[in-house]
Amino acid sequence: MRILVIGGTGHIGSYIIPELVAAGHEVTGLARSDAAVATVSALGAKVRRGSLEDLDGLKEAAADSDGVIHVAHRQDLLPSGGIDAVAAAELQIMLAYGEALAGTGKPLVVSGSIGSPGWENLGRPATEEDPALPGGDAYKGTLRVRNIVETTVIGLAERGVRSSVVRIPPIAHSTTDNAGFLPLLIGLAKEKGVIGYPGDGANLWPAVHARDLASLFRLALEKGPAGRHWHAVADEGIPFREIAEAIGSRLNLPAVPIPADVLMLPGYFGFLANLVRLDVPASNLITRQALGWEPAQPGLLADLDNGHYFPAG
Ligand SMILES: NC(=O)c1ccc[n+]([C@@H]2O[C@H](COP(=O)([O-])OP(=O)(O)OC[C@H]3O[C@@H](n4cnc5c(N)ncnc54)[C@H](OP(=O)(O)O)[C@@H]3O)[C@@H](O)[C@H]2O)c1
Repeated sequence: MRILVIGGTGHIGSYIIPELVAAGHEVTGLARSDAAVATVSALGAKVRRGSLEDLDGLKEAAADSDGVIHVAHRQDLLPSGGIDAVAAAELQIMLAYGEALAGTGKPLVVSGSIGSPGWENLGRPATEEDPALPGGDAYKGTLRVRNIVETTVIGLAERGVRSSVVRIPPIAHSTTDNAGFLPLLIGLAKEKGVIGYPGDGANLWPAVHARDLASLFRLALEKGPAGRHWHAVADEGIPFREIAEAIGSRLNLPAVPIPADVLMLPGYFGFLANLVRLDVPASNLITRQALGWEPAQPGLLADLDNGHYFPAG
């Protein structure tokens, strides 16, 4: 298939392009700069110049393809408008894909968040059948628009697009994860001299290796039915305390509880305080059964033990 990848230069996209190329697809990556052109080419894809701001260009590129994978976001909007502004821009992009692909039955596979069905409201691991929470308060009110993006993508199935959402956990780990949540936690631990965890640290975090995540995107594109969520979780829920202890043991730093009553105060976690409280276990059963997805890479704790997150010096 001739596949358009939007976000192919990013952490996740840079695993998706080689995964698709290895499976025999003809891949085109969107690139907005000379550096992106070089990266996309080096990954084995053709290049199409364009940007997320150019909705007409995205529509044309989508219409020229047999299917689209979207793993990009307007992070430049974050400082001024927060995550809602990022998601509002993404909504327009999804509607543009919808116009380009309506009635074609072509696949559109888009990144979503494992927290979108909520957490305190569920009281059990989220499943692929749980819709995104309309109020979107999985991250304490910060994901309202993001959840509308997810429901919009799912809704495109009714307009003849084979659309689906791959829900990604907060930790997508790999040897090239330079800017994700783990590097942030590790940087914080080095700065503070301890690695903190919230409360008793029993809150559960799912995780996935970026290579396994890429294979799930490929499977969803190749054979996923329309209007479905997929759960990209290899570890379905690791107690946060165990993640902190694994980091602490590599850094020779103690893992310490940050009590709930001081968690939100300026102190250890700062702007991450809302995130580290997440308790978002998620099941991958339907994803594995429907798509035949089998994560093959090291789990999170084994990957931390591999040491690549802790270069010497
Ligand atoms: N990583 C996670 O743990 C995680 C968890 C949940 C959801 N997600 C979602 O998954 C998606 C990919 O995540 P990631 O970690 O791979 O992100 P990333 O490394 O930050 O990559 C972002 C991508 O978006 C592209 N991009 C940004 N602004 C653009 C613009 N104006 N025009 C064209 N391209 C633009 C970047 O291209 P340039 O190279 O040109 O900058 C890059 O390819 C995101 O939507 C993210 O929200 C990720």
